[in-house]
Amino acid sequence: MKSAEIAINGVRMMQRIIALADIGSTGDGGSCRLALTEEDRVGRDLVVSWMKDLGLEISIDAIGNVVGTWNVGTGKPVMTGSHIDTVRTGGVYDGNYGVIAGLEVIQTCQESGLTPSRPLAVAFFTDEEGARFSPDMLGSLVYAGGLNLEEALDIVGIDGKRVGDELKNIGYAGSTPCPGESPHAFVEIHIEQGPVLEAEGFTLGAVTGVQGISWQEVTIQGQSNHAGTTPMNLRHDPAYVAAMLTVYLREIAERFGEDQVCTVGKIDLHPNLINVIPSRATLTLDMRNTDEDSLVDAERLLDTFCFQLEQDEGVSISKRTLARFEPVQFDERVIEVVERHCLSSGKRVRRLPSGAGHDAQMLARVCPSAMIFVPSHLGISHNPAEHTELDDLVTGVNVLLHVMLELADTVFS
Ligand code: GLV
Ligand code: MN
Ligand code: MN
Repeated sequence: MKSAEIAINGVRMMQRIIALADIGSTGDGGSCRLALTEEDRVGRDLVVSWMKDLGLEISIDAIGNVVGTWNVGTGKPVMTGSHIDTVRTGGVYDGNYGVIAGLEVIQTCQESGLTPSRPLAVAFFTDEEGARFSPDMLGSLVYAGGLNLEEALDIVGIDGKRVGDELKNIGYAGSTPCPGESPHAFVEIHIEQGPVLEAEGFTLGAVTGVQGISWQEVTIQGQSNHAGTTPMNLRHDPAYVAAMLTVYLREIAERFGEDQVCTVGKIDLHPNLINVIPSRATLTLDMRNTDEDSLVDAERLLDTFCFQLEQDEGVSISKRTLARFEPVQFDERVIEVVERHCLSSGKRVRRLPSGAGHDAQMLARVCPSAMIFVPSHLGISHNPAEHTELDDLVTGVNVLLHVMLELADTVFS
């Protein structure tokens, strides 16, 4: 069969997506498989069983990244993949689609008797979401040599548990060394998670890069006191300061324009009681921009505002960086291959940057990399309502297949 005639099996792919989604089902169409939990382990075991069914050689590295390689051809593999951990209220496509797409590409090639000129590999990387352990993209960051293993294993999560201990608990502290071997090229397929493709009538996205990200945890220390007796002008109230900061982040976003996004996703008050002015507030700030200078400016404004709040409100504010990644530009040669195969599918394609973080942005440090996007209905993601039409999911994976085959034949000088 000529490679142009080969098509993936959409029903089989969807069956796998549903089977994986069932693990940690939230009962409302979503999944909860926070990294390195029991649900993550069961999900990992299922995907590994699928890799074994395809005869892939499986390696598990010391940070728990799993790579399944179809050892055909010669040289370094063309790799695809993504993640199977989710946020607490995750949809079923985020990450999972990219991993199952890789299995589908390999199985389709195997069934068609088509032998790529290089090995094809599919990976799932540990803790892409960063919802339990910061930073996000932890596994792929370590894979690409951006963080040393010991530091990564010592990271403590939102529940006080250590990455290294939790990896051992779920049986995924593997023996393959980190950093991992650089692939020949890396291409990840993912749902867009934003509204652009659907709103503008495109079926496919050739992703040009990923915006920069700044995650900080802010702790505001004030004075706990009686809610009924303390005059308003004598308060040092961390809850009020947390609210001021939240409002200020919105102002920063408005001032910098649409490329700047800011989110307060988590606020904890202590002691969190109705009639007690809290002693402490802890909140997380997520700021992103496609432009590094603008992101640095936004961080500076935030610092100045925190200093002012300390003076005005008599509180102390400390900050801890949870993640900081500069914007990433994908490899133009791989983007061009992606774009060309998108066009060959007969569907409308546009180039766009990614608003979400992805493992491909880490792999881009070590090999030519890019991504393919398919539309997200109404741009909803990190939400059980996340949805992509099956036709679009299938179209995307057929493009991925042809991109991987071409990359296997591409010489990158
Ligand atoms: C990962 O999903 C992110 O927060 O971008
Ligand atoms: Mn994802
Ligand atoms: Mn995600």
